[in-house]
Amino acid sequence: MLPNHTTITQFIIEEQRSIQGATGDFTGLLTDVVLACKTISHLTKNGALVNVLGSTQQENVQGETQKKLDIIANTLFLKANEWGGHLAAMASEEMDDVYQIPAQYPRGKYLLVFDPLDGSSNIDVNVSIGTIFSILRCPDHVEQPTVKDFLQPGTQQICAGYAVYGPATMMVLTTGNGVNGFTLDQNVGEFILTHPNIKIPEDTQEFAINSSNQRFWEEPVKRYVSECLAGKTGTRDKDFNMRWIASMVAEIHRILMRGGVFLYPLDSKNKEKGGRLRLLYEASPMSFIVEQAGGLSTTGRQPILEIVPTDLHQRVPVILGSRHEVQRLIDYHQAT
Ligand code: AHG
Ligand code: MN
Ligand code: MN
Ligand code: MN
Repeated sequence: MLPNHTTITQFIIEEQRSIQGATGDFTGLLTDVVLACKTISHLTKNGALVNVLGSTQQENVQGETQKKLDIIANTLFLKANEWGGHLAAMASEEMDDVYQIPAQYPRGKYLLVFDPLDGSSNIDVNVSIGTIFSILRCPDHVEQPTVKDFLQPGTQQICAGYAVYGPATMMVLTTGNGVNGFTLDQNVGEFILTHPNIKIPEDTQEFAINSSNQRFWEEPVKRYVSECLAGKTGTRDKDFNMRWIASMVAEIHRILMRGGVFLYPLDSKNKEKGGRLRLLYEASPMSFIVEQAGGLSTTGRQPILEIVPTDLHQRVPVILGSRHEVQRLIDYHQAT
């Protein structure tokens, strides 16, 4: 770390100073979130040495078998964030219901929603994983927040961010004022601003989709992907490359760094559930980040950030990334 480096703490404090009436509460909350992510990063870097690989016998509310690290990361997030007095309640992928702040701690004005460990299938094979979070304001005069207090559209987010535990650990954040990326200095234990004002290129030659679901896709997605595959031999003026990491965080991080389009669309297999990815702690925060970086996000038929949630664990179709490709997908959906 060099003297002219900006730490994430300094960055957040300076950003908060520019907001009229800011109390420092938000800075305190983000500091706790950052600590939770640094701890999860430490565990992922040590893997089998600290006994965090493998599955449990438990299932979460969506019927997924929970990995050990899903549960450990969830508990770390709760413990790091419950005591500070900044939160009214929390919710996560790994908990059926709203988590109330224990009575011995003061209650604050924010709600925290998170996916403690994204890309669970990658934990045991040492491939990039991440954490996603979103901060909402708790409606006034709520004594004990309930599910309905969390059901706010993505446009209401105060902050969204993710940590990616890859070769380097990075934290990427937006508070609605652009997107900034920080790299964890492992020696000092601080995130340092390394990627200021991230912008997603408007054009791309890269797409990401789980192609094994091809036979279940709807017509507009079939059309788009087959045109990408045909490249210059078909209707497109360029050839395309494809990637699939099976960790949304790693996928979106790549797109923020060099452009691309990510799809987990509606298909005949996930239609009944409304999609594969969860709105409140996956689709919504990632859409906020992507749009703040100049990209676009949609279900194909509706902007993701405008969806008013009806359930804590609601699923939605997700298409996001480089603006011109996402717009093409919106056009294809409108044409059917
Ligand atoms: P999670 O590990 O939090 O349950 O999320 C996994 C999600 C997402 O990160 C990824 O894009 C997708 O599931 C992978 O789905 P496939 O198994 O169809 O590849
Ligand atoms: Mn899961
Ligand atoms: Mn996830
Ligand atoms: Mn998860």
